[in-house]
Amino acid sequence: MTPWWQTTSIYQVYPRSFQDSNADGVGDLPGIINRLDHLKELGVETVWVSPFFASPQQDFGYDVTDYEAVAPEYGTLEDAQRLIDEVHSRGMKVMFDLVLNHTSDQHPWFLRSRSSRSNPKADWYIWADGRGKHGKRPPNNWKSAMEFTSAWQYCPTRRQWYMATFLPFQPDLNWRNPEVKRAMFDTVRFWLDKGVDGFRLDIFGQIMKDPDFANNPVRPRVYNGFPRLTERIHTENTADNVTLAKELRAVCEEYPGDRALLGEVFGPPEVLKSYLGEDDGLNLVFLFEFLTFHYNAEWFRTTIQGFEDNFPAPMQPTYVLENHDRSRLLDRVHGDVAKAGVLAVILLTLRGVPTVYQGQEIGMSNTRLPFKDALDPIAASVYKHLPQFFVDRMSERLNRDEVRTPMQWDASANAGFCPDGVQPWLPVNPDYERVNVAHQESDNDSLLNLYRRLFALRRDSESLRSGPLAMLEALPDGVLGYRRADLIVLANMGIEPVTVKYSGRSLVEAGEVAVGMGRVSLFPDSAVVLQTVVPKLA
Ligand code: NOJ
Repeated sequence: MTPWWQTTSIYQVYPRSFQDSNADGVGDLPGIINRLDHLKELGVETVWVSPFFASPQQDFGYDVTDYEAVAPEYGTLEDAQRLIDEVHSRGMKVMFDLVLNHTSDQHPWFLRSRSSRSNPKADWYIWADGRGKHGKRPPNNWKSAMEFTSAWQYCPTRRQWYMATFLPFQPDLNWRNPEVKRAMFDTVRFWLDKGVDGFRLDIFGQIMKDPDFANNPVRPRVYNGFPRLTERIHTENTADNVTLAKELRAVCEEYPGDRALLGEVFGPPEVLKSYLGEDDGLNLVFLFEFLTFHYNAEWFRTTIQGFEDNFPAPMQPTYVLENHDRSRLLDRVHGDVAKAGVLAVILLTLRGVPTVYQGQEIGMSNTRLPFKDALDPIAASVYKHLPQFFVDRMSERLNRDEVRTPMQWDASANAGFCPDGVQPWLPVNPDYERVNVAHQESDNDSLLNLYRRLFALRRDSESLRSGPLAMLEALPDGVLGYRRADLIVLANMGIEPVTVKYSGRSLVEAGEVAVGMGRVSLFPDSAVVLQTVVPKLA
């Protein structure tokens, strides 16, 4: 039987911004539970919940102080259990988000670890002596994820440096210490025991570093939209990291049923593939290329074909158009909702696992916020000196607050996220009176209803769930087309109307499309899913 994760669709909930249930301006687990029917009606099959574990919230949950406790502003362990059960009772799966690479610097393990070189937790994090006469220079040239600053932070008490791949307050755990591995695997079991169906694994590719701390080669370039100075061969996607993926999978295999591991891993396809195995390794890895898409048929054709070649079945490409770290897709198409509709058709009709970030289904856009007020620790620390006019001209959002503003449920105060009179933790996007779930529910032509139709089609169509994908050749310029078994998907991403010869029945349409008399006419920024007619034998 095909395991569920091969054909599922994933919806990302960012708890802080989804639904506030206790009027403190911060989303919480009971709030998510109250809104699960929206997800059920949308038709998604798996809910991925970003971290809600105990944390000082310096990186809004990606800095954990207790992996087996819920941060009080989000609820209790009972709420977490209820969330799992309520998702299940609606026939959906649930994945939690595990931050295995680092903890908060307020985690009791780190407080202990940094207190001396001889305490029982001394070796639970990655410590090294510095270079130079007094060891005041970082141990090597390893850069943080931001790439401009060293990955090493000095600790005067130990007169040593600790590694922090992400931000200084997120020290990296030493996974080469068997005690660390045991403690973290027990955490995984803790949540599996409660019934979660799998995990999204935060910066999974960067957990196992070179034990000899060899320098990374210097090679400046642009990667995934951001500058890179070094080739991270000793800090990312090492062979030991792939071994760790297999060990983690073995922990999941201790449990009945299929559990899924979805890795946040960056790298070229051959590297990403090395994490995936049919019976071992991760089940899925995100493919982030769509985050920086170019809205044209040729770009999509080449990118999709590349993934088809590199990730043949049973591997499943895992497509991402939006998440809590990067620009909303609507801003990448200059606010053109018709284009967002075409992208929805593509995302939900490709082979593989689509992921949708909360608000994507109603076309939420980036909320422009004054850079100086940023709460996002990257904007507030790393980029804090950049002037507003520079930030405004960047296509990438350097302040992740702008993509994390509250979910827009209706046209009432605070968009229904929290009650009138309560200040939400981030401002609501001023477009909420127009862009919200309630409004779009009542409009048959809305983006929300398009997403619903597409999810419903995906759920019921074996061709979309497991059929092979073959690109259609010889289409007019600007048109992307592919076949999924008996279905054909056509998207006009060009600027001219086109007519192509295909017979069939239209199942879902976005934008202006006419189907009939053996022809399909598509206006610019329209798309159609067509059930082709199988000729009857006389
Ligand atoms: C990737 C997460 O998506 C991001 O939000 C977080 O800040 C970093 N990892 C650090 O955990």
